[in-house]
Amino acid sequence: MFSNTASSETAKFLELEEKYGAHNYHPLPVVLNRGKGVFLWDVQGKRYYDFLSGYSAVNQGHCHPAIISALVEQAQKLTLTSRAFHNDLLGEYSKYITEYFGYDKVLPMNTGVEGGETAIKLARRWGYVNKGIPDNQAKIIFAEHNFWGRTLAAISSSTDPSSYQKFGPYMPGFELVPYNNLPELEKAFQDQNVAAFMVEPIQGEAGVVCPDEGYLKGVRNLCTEYNVLFIADEIQTGLCRTGKMLACDHEDVRPDILILGKALSGGVLPVSAVLADDEIMLNIHPGEHGSTYGGNPLACKVAMAALQVLKDEDLAQNAEDMGRLLRKELNNLETPLITNIRGKGLLNAIVVNHPDPNAALTFCLELMKNGLLAKPTHGDKIRFAPPLIIKKDQIIECVQIIKHSLQVLD
Ligand SMILES: Cc1ncc(COP(=O)(O)O)c(C=O)c1O
Repeated sequence: MFSNTASSETAKFLELEEKYGAHNYHPLPVVLNRGKGVFLWDVQGKRYYDFLSGYSAVNQGHCHPAIISALVEQAQKLTLTSRAFHNDLLGEYSKYITEYFGYDKVLPMNTGVEGGETAIKLARRWGYVNKGIPDNQAKIIFAEHNFWGRTLAAISSSTDPSSYQKFGPYMPGFELVPYNNLPELEKAFQDQNVAAFMVEPIQGEAGVVCPDEGYLKGVRNLCTEYNVLFIADEIQTGLCRTGKMLACDHEDVRPDILILGKALSGGVLPVSAVLADDEIMLNIHPGEHGSTYGGNPLACKVAMAALQVLKDEDLAQNAEDMGRLLRKELNNLETPLITNIRGKGLLNAIVVNHPDPNAALTFCLELMKNGLLAKPTHGDKIRFAPPLIIKKDQIIECVQIIKHSLQVLD
């Protein structure tokens, strides 16, 4: 669609994808071939600030040297054994990540959505074994406007028609409540067959929707009161993105099941993890769940390096400080074209206020022209989520790019 506006070199790449690839994405017309820190470069050598960070997979910055060196070193030694045999890194990684987050056990998977599926299986099993829910009656509650991936289970809990329409029939046993609404959650919990509530501490894909302060504490209390598992999907919000190691840390709450992904490998390969205590995790026995690549030595080594970078570089604090600065500078623009600047840490979004329904896209294309990559979501919202290593002068420069690019909407 964009190929007629792109340079001929870029158009070549777009045409290849268009002709031979499924049309399941609608990327901006930029073709990237290099990344370092907060920057990406296109095939013509033009440099951009990355304000998406691979949907928060690249929190540590592109091609972080410590992560890449762990990757390269391990790739030359051993990459995959499958779980039919042991490898010499899975035990070390399991100890490392469980101590890091304070859970008894980890179940390693690959993509984020597999992490979600795993958490739900664990919750259902716990519901039958520990809570005494009659067989096949377990219910999982989700919040409206959730996003946790594209599998049939994930779209079965979706309220976005473009995700679920014409892909039915859907997974039974899933119910929805409004996000950020504790009375409705409590109503849903009256049903004894509810095993778990799965929720994002901030709804990322929905457009960075932050709940009221106290919501996560309220969720924790209700889950405890009604003997329902609290599953936190921290795949996008976790790993320092929101200014704390986990977004749940903002309210000092501990979920029963924690799902991590994305930045768990610093954008290097798909690595996800589900963390829980023995009472939940040990209900799954050999042969009942797994994945060929889950827990592979390459992923274990990379994940330990990626987690270590978060602590060594205190990226939670930098995300907190740079996030505050970004929102302050954006607010200082005092433009009627931006109506809402929201977020926590470096997970932020703005809402573009313009009569043209394509204004957010037009604005992103102008940002791209001016050296900053960001993508609209749900029409008028744009996520601003740079790598967490971004520095003060870079934030200031990016806000200047944003200010200058807004002129395209005048
Ligand atoms: C909150 C959340 N959960 C789950 C996922 C799915 O992760 P993946 O795309 O790695 O399967 C995403 C992806 O954007 C996400 O934002």
